Amino acid sequence: MEFKQVIGSRRSIRFYQPWRPVEREKIQACLEAGRLASRAVNAPFAKAVVLYRDQLTEEQRNSLKTPTTTAQLDLAPVWIIWHANLGAITDTKLGATLKQLIDVGALTPSHGWSYSYAENVVWAQMLKPINDDPNVLVPVVFAEASLAICQSLLCAVDEGLGTQLTAVTAEAVKRIVKTPDTWVPIWAQLLGYPAESREAGGQRPREPFEEDFFEMEYGKPFRRDPKVVEALEAVGMIRSAAPFPWRKDEVRALSRAFELPE
Ligand SMILES: Cc1cc2nc3c(=O)[nH]c(=O)nc-3n(C[C@H](O)[C@H](O)[C@H](O)COP(=O)(O)O)c2cc1C
Repeated sequence: MEFKQVIGSRRSIRFYQPWRPVEREKIQACLEAGRLASRAVNAPFAKAVVLYRDQLTEEQRNSLKTPTTTAQLDLAPVWIIWHANLGAITDTKLGATLKQLIDVGALTPSHGWSYSYAENVVWAQMLKPINDDPNVLVPVVFAEASLAICQSLLCAVDEGLGTQLTAVTAEAVKRIVKTPDTWVPIWAQLLGYPAESREAGGQRPREPFEEDFFEMEYGKPFRRDPKVVEALEAVGMIRSAAPFPWRKDEVRALSRAFELPE
């Protein structure tokens, strides 16, 4: 699928065909997409464990639910449990991943890079202090992991799957998946074939563009050019806004089909 169409057709899907398995190669493609996300100092911030709904007990499934994660967990056959790896900077082994980037010609002397710069400046003066201060480390690691998750989400759409991020209880993840202490569970990415239409009632509301984006300084909105909006509509990135007139009927029909509350 064309990239902008992938962005435009992504929706958080909450109704899945519970009977239809997801091909293993599609799951792997999502993980591969996450693996290729850009990542500071090339450190392994994102980790994931794939869970198959039907290989868990009912008690395990229910223990993962939260107030915002309900029927979608029962409907989606595959869940990628994404983790933030608090050990990621330690895992760079005193900046060894930077040296690797130097070796492959990604970080170059033209930009000041050398082995000793990686060790004595970047590791000693930047990475180590970040690593030693949890108040700095935690937000860095979570933001980094989110980049990988976003790529995996978009890849799922490109693979023709429905997908969604949803909260799961960290305690239950730890108990079921038995991940290392340095891995913090953050979100479950659900995978499955959508039971709702791919448009899922239309593109979900966002606040006005100018409330989020500015030029040069806060308070000077980045002016949204309607011609750019039109061009992005033409290629399928910006789509009809929710709700479609028939959305309530669609949700009612799906809820009845799956014996969920209306
Ligand atoms: C990090 C993250 C966590 C989310 N957690 C939940 C959740 O627990 N339950 C849920 O129903 N949706 C969850 N969502 C989906 C959002 O509610 C959804 O993205 C939002 O409504 C916008 O819709 P869209 O994704 O279709 O554009 C989450 C989304 C993100 C990015």
